[in-house]
Amino acid sequence: MSDPALPDGVERREIGGETRLATRGPAVYGEPTADGWRAWDPERSKLGGMFELGVDTGFAGGETVLYLGAASGTTVSHVADFAGPTYAVEFAPRPARDLVDAAEPRDRLFPLLKDARKPRSYAHVVESGVDAIVQDVATRGQAEVAVRNRQFLADDGRLVLAIKARSEDVTAAPADVFERALDRLRETYEILETQRLDRYHEDHLGVVATPR
Ligand SMILES: C[S@@+](CC[C@H](N)C(=O)[O-])C[C@H]1O[C@@H](n2cnc3c(N)ncnc32)[C@H](O)[C@@H]1O
Repeated sequence: MSDPALPDGVERREIGGETRLATRGPAVYGEPTADGWRAWDPERSKLGGMFELGVDTGFAGGETVLYLGAASGTTVSHVADFAGPTYAVEFAPRPARDLVDAAEPRDRLFPLLKDARKPRSYAHVVESGVDAIVQDVATRGQAEVAVRNRQFLADDGRLVLAIKARSEDVTAAPADVFERALDRLRETYEILETQRLDRYHEDHLGVVATPR
């Protein structure tokens, strides 16, 4: 069944006796499947959580995407199932090996073993004017990473960002950490929506923004 709040290629499907968010593609992380559709676990994916919580990410389906912090490909594999060309940046070699496996049957998913703080190191590969940047790096300086990668984003594109409070400061109140990160983002982006993701990811903030 299609849902107007979800991009084309993301649907709520009956899988294993439950209605689950799902995309169409080969399984990656042992997720249940039915009729070619794979369940998208919002507890393992901030973007999945944002869709479950009704955040307007701006995705319609078919977009060109730069994904920062791809890890072993759990979320970015779902993105590549519904988006267009999807560049997946991950700097840790171990998860990147699984990411390469996830990309193997997906002709739109391009893994890059690169540091997202150094966008110049992949600027020769990633096309400029991408429709969306999805970011989930969970390291100190998350807003700074988003600011540095703005150069790849189309002027009317979307930044879809997850901020993990504890990665910035383990002692500060998450609300204060989020305000500081949003202040840094506002120098480069207009914030369109924020949503606490605690139902699925404790002390995380989902942010949708567009370039200023
Ligand atoms: C929370 S995990 C990402 C989970 C993944 N987004 C998913 O949902 O499937 C954060 C990842 O970001 C990566 N990371 C952190 N800093 C990075 C950087 N500067 N450049 C590239 N990857 C980075 C980490 O190695 C880790 O794999």
